[in-house]
Formats: sequence, structure tokens, C-alpha cells
Amino acid sequence: MGTPVTRRIGLSLGADICWPKCFEDLVARWDPTLEIGDETVRFEVERVTIEPFDLRQPVAYDVVIDRLTHWHANTREWIKKAILLDDLYVFNNPWSVQSMEKQTTYCAMMRLGLPIPETWMVPPKEYDSVPDLEPTLQRYANLFDLEPIGDGIGYPLFMKPYDGGGWVGVSKVDSAGELRAAYETSGKFLMHLQQGVAPYEDFVRCVGVGPQLRVVSYDPDAPLHGRYTNRFDHLPDDDMARLRATTLTINTFFGWDFNSCECLGQGGTWYPIDFANPCPDSQITSLNRHFPWLVLAKLRWSMFCAATGRPFRKNLDWQPFLDIADTDADQADKLAAYGRLAEEHFETEAFERFCRDHLEPLEEVAFEYFASDDAKAAVRQKVTAMYPPHEVDEFTERFWASIQQWRNEESPVANR
Ligand SMILES: Nc1ncnc2c1ncn2[C@@H]1O[C@H](COP(=O)(O)OP(=O)(O)O)[C@@H](O)[C@H]1O
Ligand SMILES: [Mg+2]
Repeated sequence: MGTPVTRRIGLSLGADICWPKCFEDLVARWDPTLEIGDETVRFEVERVTIEPFDLRQPVAYDVVIDRLTHWHANTREWIKKAILLDDLYVFNNPWSVQSMEKQTTYCAMMRLGLPIPETWMVPPKEYDSVPDLEPTLQRYANLFDLEPIGDGIGYPLFMKPYDGGGWVGVSKVDSAGELRAAYETSGKFLMHLQQGVAPYEDFVRCVGVGPQLRVVSYDPDAPLHGRYTNRFDHLPDDDMARLRATTLTINTFFGWDFNSCECLGQGGTWYPIDFANPCPDSQITSLNRHFPWLVLAKLRWSMFCAATGRPFRKNLDWQPFLDIADTDADQADKLAAYGRLAEEHFETEAFERFCRDHLEPLEEVAFEYFASDDAKAAVRQKVTAMYPPHEVDEFTERFWASIQQWRNEESPVANR
């Protein structure tokens, strides 16, 4: 037995209900003791609370999974302090979450040669009134005609906020007339106009947690609970390899351990269209059978980071990617080379070894847990918060059935 140590994982949460409960329940049921090097490591999970803090006070956590940075300033600033002063490891890099909108991610991945559809930015239709507004616009804002821009991009195109999320302000535009109308009503949004990938053969969400990836076919026209379909990791090896390299490259480039990359497949090309989604939807009510996978992926990666003392990379390091981009290699080779940098960053081999050596009992624990009353209570609590009372039973059963599908079809325990 090595020196006993306790590693603490903090969950920084907002409205989340189901996944944190499952995460905590799994750790409590298993309560693992791992022999790592000369240490005997135990784990504690705790929810991070919001309160005043002394900038020099120590931090109680080794790893924090953060769902608040994108809107809650107090927690975001506590996290930044904890990284800088206390070497906290956090998913995701808060500076990068704060500053890397869609626009930056499009530009960066264009620079790496990825097939981002043609995209323009247009100045907003309306502005907040600030003292310098009038002289600035009068002197420098060129009048512009949307029609040639729209014709150049072609129809359909998508008008969407440069920093958007959750489909807010997104419209599909099929003609010059619609483009004018959409712009007229776009208010203060700073908009992109993006070439539509239409029709596409497949729409995938590539969910990455550290080096773990799940490629799920996504149906944007289905009701909310049916968008993550049952098809996943279904593509030929070459497509899977490209999507893996693409997603892990993006996540490494921006310091996002947990992110989702949306790609549209058309004629053999995967067009990334939306990949600034750090800390994406983790709820049973959207993820269906992918929910247990995601809870376990977060658990494995946070345990790996906490147990091995994985250092948090405080600075983004873009140069090695740009150096590859500037070579004469063809794009497929460049993508493979970016992918290798990303696998190195995420320590894929060491992580897989860690899972083999230490986390195998988790499979059994998860198989039993996801059949338990505790797990069903987590589903019911989430459904109760989202659905009208008369639909709670029906949807609880529906999502529960999707978890059972995961158990029966995917758990290595069921398939032994
Ligand atoms: N270039 C595009 N081609 C085809 N469909 C698109 C394109 N851009 C956006 N869409 C559609 O609009 C939806 C919302 O756009 P997206 O860029 O994902 O914004 P958000 O960040 O709000 O999710 C996408 O899920 C997709 O259905
Ligand atoms: Mg999207």
C-alpha cells in the first residue's frame, strides 16, 4: 500500500440534475481505491458552491468539471484564480470559453485547411447607443448591398450569430428577398452568412471528452428528445478517423476537454459547421442512450486527470498546428498530423492503459447502477423539471428504456 491520498473532483453546476446525480452515485457505489505509483488514491466528489472568496485562499479540488463559466462570472473568476494560484485542472479552459466564439473557431480551422463552408460576417443592423457611435458609423461604415454577397455565397445560406448557440437567431435563407428580410429583423446580432451544406447525407455530433469520442447521427428536425438518434460510431473507418482527428484537433487547439463538433457530410467531405460548444448538453432528456456513455466518459477522464495529477495547460499553443498547416503536405496528411498532436495532448495511450489497469470494475458498477432505483430517480427528477406533470411518467419510461438499450447493447458486462 502506498501513501494514502484523496483526490477531490468538484462539480460546478447550474440547472443540471441528472448527470451529476449519476456521477456522484457511481463514485459512491464504487468508492474505488487505486494504487497509482507509490500512492493509494481515493476520490471524493463535491458540488462547488458560490460564495465570496479570498483570491489567495487554497482550493479544495484537484479537478473541476465546470458548467457555469459561459455565463456565471463569480464562478468563472474563481476558476481562473484556482488555475493560476492553485494549479487546478478544469474542463474547460475558462479564458478560451470566454473568448473563442464561433467566428474565431471558424477562422482557426480555415487556417488549418479544414473545409469550413464559405462564411461572411456582416456589420449589425442596429447598435446600442454609445457616445462614439454616430461619428464612427458616419466616417467609416460603408453602405453595403447584401444581394451580391448572398449571390456569391449561393442559396440556401444560413444567417446566424457569430457567437451563437442553441439555434438562437439562426435562419435558413433561400433567396435574396429572404436575405434582406432576415437582415432587416436581425437587430443587434452580429451575423455570419454561411453557405448551406444542403442537402447533406449525414449530420453528426462528435462529442469529445478528453481522448474519448462518440460520433452520433443527429436529426435537427426531430423533437428535442429525438435529435440524438440511435445511430452512432456508424461510419466507415476512414470517416471515423477524420472526424476523430477533426474533433480532437479543435478540442486541443482551444483547450476544451469536453466539446461537441457538428459536421455535415456531403459527397465524401465532412464540413464542420458548429464546434464552439464547450461543455455541451449532458442531459438524459436529449442524449437518450448516449447518456450513460457520457456520464462514464466524464467520470473516467476526471479520475484520470485527478489520479495522475495531469497538469492543466494554462496557455494555448497554436504554433505546432500552424507549422503543420504551412507545410506542403496534402490536407489529409495535415489532418492526420494535427490528430497526432491532439492524441499526444490528451495522452490517449496513457489514458487507455489507466482504464485497463484501474477502471475495469466501473463497468460492473455502471451496469448495475443503470438498472437501479437511484438511476431511475435521476431520470425522473430531470423529466419532472422539464415536462408538464401529465407527461412525466411517459417520458421517464421512454428515457429509462434508452438507458436499458445502452445496458443491453453496449455494456461490456451484458456482452461478456
Ligand atoms: N452551413 C450550414 N449548412 C446547413 N445547415 C446549417 C448550416 N449552419 C447551420 N445549419 C443548421 O442550423 C442549425 C443551427 O446552426 P449552428 O451553427 O449549429 O448554431 P448553434 O450554435 O446555435 O447550434 C444547425 O444545427 C443546422 O441544422
Ligand atoms: Mg449547433
